[in-house]
Amino acid sequence: MVMMLMKATAIANSNIALVKYWGKRNSDLMLPHNSSVSMTLDNLNTMTTVEFSENFSEYELKINGKTAKGEELKRVATHLDLLQDSSPQKRFAKIMSESNFPKKAGLASSASGFAALTLAGTKALGQNLTLKELSILSRRGSGSASRSILGGFVEWIKGSLLDGSDSHAIQIEEEGHWPELSMIVTIISTEEKKVSSRAGMSQTVKTSPFYDAWLDTIESDVEKMKQAITKKNFTLLGKIAENNALKMHATMHTTIPPILYWESGSLSIMKEVLKLREEGTECYFTMDAGPQVKILCQQKDLETIKSRVTELDLVKDIIICHPGGEARLIEDHLF
Ligand code: DP6
Repeated sequence: MVMMLMKATAIANSNIALVKYWGKRNSDLMLPHNSSVSMTLDNLNTMTTVEFSENFSEYELKINGKTAKGEELKRVATHLDLLQDSSPQKRFAKIMSESNFPKKAGLASSASGFAALTLAGTKALGQNLTLKELSILSRRGSGSASRSILGGFVEWIKGSLLDGSDSHAIQIEEEGHWPELSMIVTIISTEEKKVSSRAGMSQTVKTSPFYDAWLDTIESDVEKMKQAITKKNFTLLGKIAENNALKMHATMHTTIPPILYWESGSLSIMKEVLKLREEGTECYFTMDAGPQVKILCQQKDLETIKSRVTELDLVKDIIICHPGGEARLIEDHLF
């Protein structure tokens, strides 16, 4: 009998939330308290190869050349078990994953990671799923991964059904819609963060007195952000994104014990952005669960802003991103 090779490779881009997801209403099914909006990024990605075989006796995972164990391996194994829920026979797999940016430093490595793992894993199992199905499955690995399945500008609809079947991402506009929209990722530290998004958001929901206020304004932010994207209104997009990020960080800061992802360098860059704006160069900042500051600007101002932030000693590196495409399968495997 000819054995079919159960192997596939996928690439998924990371994404930056313009209206953030922070807090779950159901942590088993990974259902969020609020909808969120993101831009898929062309220049931050993860490539993952998955091979299932009856001959493997355990899951083996390599991330960026290093064998992964413990919690990291467990999360991936649980996800690949989930993908096989409807398979008559459960198999183990070898997984190799490479990202072109530091992981766990607030650059959404779990978003591109779980989107690529879901696409490669389901294809290796012979499943051909729709984008909606892939988004729902990716969500189970990491909430933000539900958005990385799609390209361009994306909304993760929170949904209301108990089984989570209506909590998935949809595309607002495709990546070619607004190519001038640019993002400068300033790398301040590549150290892995001490508080994961998962643990952090759960603690915020439980203890921050500002969490309800966060939820009160989110649907209006989502609506305005969708309008800003569709109409290519940069001022509206920037204002909502910056304010939304600060509101999320206010809930983090008022969590008990406090969650402070900001480093002093983060604050210096945020102030530089405000200064640039005062001087007439329009740009806005956003930040996630890590110290890196991401600057939103238009292509025409990219060089000016880039040279200003490069002058700051605290910036170790910068990565320029534009709207990127959806997760895709490729023929070249990592092993
Ligand atoms: C601050 O998707 O990493 O980046 O669902 O627990 O895996 P889990 O969390 P994750 O959280 C992302 C939080 C954020 C905001 C966002 O991307 O919307």
